[in-house]
Amino acid sequence: MQNFEYCTPTRLIFGQGVIARLPEELGRIGKKVLLTYGGGSIKKIGLYQKVLELLQGFEITELPGIQPNPRYDPSVLDGVRLCKEHGIEVILSVGGGSVLDCSKAIAAGACYEGDPWDLISYKVKASKALPIVDILTLAATGCEYDCGGVISRTETNDKIGYIDPLLFPVCSFLDPTYTFTVPPTQTAAGIADAMNHSLEQYFCEDATLMNDGFCEAGLKSLMVNGKACLKNPEDYTARAEMMFVCTLACNNIMSLGNSASGWPMHGIEHALSGYYDITHGEGLAIITPRWMQHILSERTLPRFVKYGVNVFGINPALPEMEIAQRAIAATHAFFEEIGIPMHLREVGIGPERIGEMAHHIAVNEGLEHAYVPLTEKDITQILLASM
Ligand code: NZQ
Ligand code: ZN
Repeated sequence: MQNFEYCTPTRLIFGQGVIARLPEELGRIGKKVLLTYGGGSIKKIGLYQKVLELLQGFEITELPGIQPNPRYDPSVLDGVRLCKEHGIEVILSVGGGSVLDCSKAIAAGACYEGDPWDLISYKVKASKALPIVDILTLAATGCEYDCGGVISRTETNDKIGYIDPLLFPVCSFLDPTYTFTVPPTQTAAGIADAMNHSLEQYFCEDATLMNDGFCEAGLKSLMVNGKACLKNPEDYTARAEMMFVCTLACNNIMSLGNSASGWPMHGIEHALSGYYDITHGEGLAIITPRWMQHILSERTLPRFVKYGVNVFGINPALPEMEIAQRAIAATHAFFEEIGIPMHLREVGIGPERIGEMAHHIAVNEGLEHAYVPLTEKDITQILLASM
């Protein structure tokens, strides 16, 4: 087992109706609030109106229109400017992962005098960030319980995971009823994203029995509850468990003490979204079985066997290579079953820029240090197999 240090300072306030505590929690931090949100879903579900009603007496500045795969320009830059102009004391993020990720970058940029890209691109380490409170409306990324934010810069096709312990939300409000309206495509993408977070932590060296069990339970719960959410979007129990698992799946708690895996599928997917603005969870689902097939070898076989037997219930008496192949096929079949398009061409990605993307990934994502090291050639092969 490897040495580790773990601290997640975010307070989770979970359950139906917990939003009533918003004024009390926010009031502890400040009265001047930047309210960030996306393209309007929070208005359709009545959450925007509810927040304004609860926050009478607070001074609210709004940053609407944050897009999926949130943009540095204009959203991060606008948010930073608003924080400085209005002396913002706390950011309230209401929406999915994109809104919260953007809010995290704004929180750091607001306390920095230079170009916020210096921070996101790791040229300069932030020394301070504004506090963030969030109300999550989509179960997927786990950003409500981690200190990362993923920001896109379209002119350079960059999509960077900006990670800094300063960016943990102070408090996350998790009311599963706000996820009832998440459409089937985004629900499925959320299932795939959180499953992939578990897989990125499962396929590594030095895994403990505890961590393996954690990841396997997360995967099984996401498959069972995810399908129940798709069948009945207002199934509270299923939405609640899905939200709970998604929250835990991305802050590394499932792999404390394991060797780092390098999160290779995320490294590859971020380029797909950076170049083609596709939905993160869909890109991951497409890459996952191809990556698995690519790294399957005598060395990795025991992990695949464990995965196949414990997650999919494959007969352990079968030859090991057959168990592994069945596990990869079952992973692919599950994503298909929940309605995810399983080829890059189905999400608008042709072969034209595969070489360019593979080069971008090889240069920027450090996948030569992944659980199974990936060269530019390996990445090209995985992308071509995903076409
Ligand atoms: O913009 P609005 O109108 O709010 O609509 C959104 C958006 O169109 C909609 N939506 C959200 N809640 C809804 C809803 N529609 C109806 N009812 C609701 N309750 O869903 C669409 C997608 O929203 P988005 O926030 O983009 O989805 P998600 O939460 O999956 O976030 C994806 C982003 O997070 C990044 C991804 O790369 C991507 O940019 N990630 C962040 C991570 C982190 N910070 O730790 C880790 C992940 O691996 C991931 O990379
Ligand atoms: Zn992800």
